[in-house]
Amino acid sequence: MRMRRMRRNQPLRDLVRETSLEPGDLIYPLFICPGKGIRNPISSMPGVFNLSVDEAVREAEEAAQLGIGGLLLFGLPETKDEQGTGAWEENGIVQQALRTLKQSPASKKLVLIADVCLCEYTSHGHCGAVTKSGDEFDVDNDPTLELLARTAVSQAKAGADVVAPSDMMDGRVSAIRKALDAAGLKQTPILSYASKFASAFYGPFREAADSAPQFGDRRSYQMDGANLREAMREIDLDIEEGADMILMKPAMPYLDVVRAARERVDVPIGAYQVSGEYSMLHAAFEKGWLDHDRAMLESLLGIRRAGADFIVTYFAKDAAKLLG
Ligand code: PBG
Repeated sequence: MRMRRMRRNQPLRDLVRETSLEPGDLIYPLFICPGKGIRNPISSMPGVFNLSVDEAVREAEEAAQLGIGGLLLFGLPETKDEQGTGAWEENGIVQQALRTLKQSPASKKLVLIADVCLCEYTSHGHCGAVTKSGDEFDVDNDPTLELLARTAVSQAKAGADVVAPSDMMDGRVSAIRKALDAAGLKQTPILSYASKFASAFYGPFREAADSAPQFGDRRSYQMDGANLREAMREIDLDIEEGADMILMKPAMPYLDVVRAARERVDVPIGAYQVSGEYSMLHAAFEKGWLDHDRAMLESLLGIRRAGADFIVTYFAKDAAKLLG
């Protein structure tokens, strides 16, 4: 047997290619900030910006033209408070963006996904309501559910096609499902970040979304990177509670988790190639140590091969330009 026979030229290689990668598989995250005409660069994420709503519309138009599958929206509110009011208020920054984006023809071609979490909106930077006693603090699970549900409902009312809770509170999928149904939003799907690990690779995001915890860390709600079986239990629970799709996060350091999820469940699976994965590749590109186009596409193909149906990635536009 000579394995090289089928590698001899491009048409042969194309014929036997097992995994596809298309612009429609990619979801592009956007960070929306107040103001007009604003494009503030994120220093640790070359090519990524905080965008005012009008600029986000331009990004949406370009994404639609490139055939990208959808957008994932994060918000930087004008002000923050203990409860994260900016996450659910009628005129919150993501709600404004959703209403405006929905009026753009580009939105007909894109799935608009709203990230449901409080950390960008709370003064303490945690993903839920915090109770303190002395030096100890706790992110209080059950009171947070109500705030998350309110957030998801207001985003869906403002035009989100999908809501995506990323907070890792227990029971949030069923709380959000009940609230959506009660508000007459029975057709709004939930993409749950079912398996989300407490990861150093979220570092640059916290600059982009201004969401670093002011004290402590997220290890009492996000998972320990050592635990694959626990990830499977999180996935089972979220599906039982009504998740329509699940998201695995981060992607590259956790490809085994993506693969195990793919073999275990039949719901659509996404993987999030997070900020630190993007930044570390960019750092190597800037030094000339890795080839931008090839390394980028290889990283995305690996995530698809592991079993992800779609990928949330800051490379979405760059990759779509090459693939299209
Ligand atoms: C909100 C949230 C985070 C990310 C997505 N949603 C930050 C965190 O959990 O600290 C990270 C995304 C990225 O790093 O690109 N909870």
